[in-house]
Amino acid sequence: MLKKVPIAVLCSGGGTNLQAILDAEAAGNIPSGRVALVVSDNANAFALERAKKAGVEIAVFDRKQVSDRKEREARILALLREKQIGLVILAGFMTILSENFTRAFENRIINVHPSLIPSFCGPGYYGLKVHEAALARGVKVTGATVHYVNEVCDGGPIILQKAVNVEEGDTPETLQKRVMREAEWKILPAAAELVCKKLLQG
Ligand code: GAR
Repeated sequence: MLKKVPIAVLCSGGGTNLQAILDAEAAGNIPSGRVALVVSDNANAFALERAKKAGVEIAVFDRKQVSDRKEREARILALLREKQIGLVILAGFMTILSENFTRAFENRIINVHPSLIPSFCGPGYYGLKVHEAALARGVKVTGATVHYVNEVCDGGPIILQKAVNVEEGDTPETLQKRVMREAEWKILPAAAELVCKKLLQG
């Protein structure tokens, strides 16, 4: 394949989902896209180390240094345009994007969420909080979802989902790890390829 969609991955933390994408790309499993840029709103995010190690360009718009959300978004948006990014992947990005941003990249932003949407999603449900809520409700099955991002938090069309069993004695931490390993790290790279392929086909 000659053409690849330039991808930007936005992260705030550890970046294990970013790593899954980088590994999938290196293994030839994302033939329709290439990670061109990693953006973080946290200067201390380990995701940045992962990007550097893979030789991917990084950009930091730290929440403490650029504290105005609008200003941060505007700067990220300008960079994405400058780099001619075709697909934005939210991989543990902890800022909710405004409608101005999502409209600018309509059908070109995807997010991974650590539950089976529509359960345990929306404002306030992120990271460990999602798994705490799943355990508190006593569900026996949870999982992860990759979806398009629009103006409704966690409300865009679903691309892929994968179920994961809750086990006796699970803590939010053990459940989070299992959901990542069995679901997120598989469906996020798969969805990235699906969407890039679709974008190339026009
Ligand atoms: C992941 O579990 C991701 O699904 C979640 O944050 C974690 C980031 O981990 N995202 C959300 O909760 C978004 N609502 P990572 O930095 O190791 O990829």
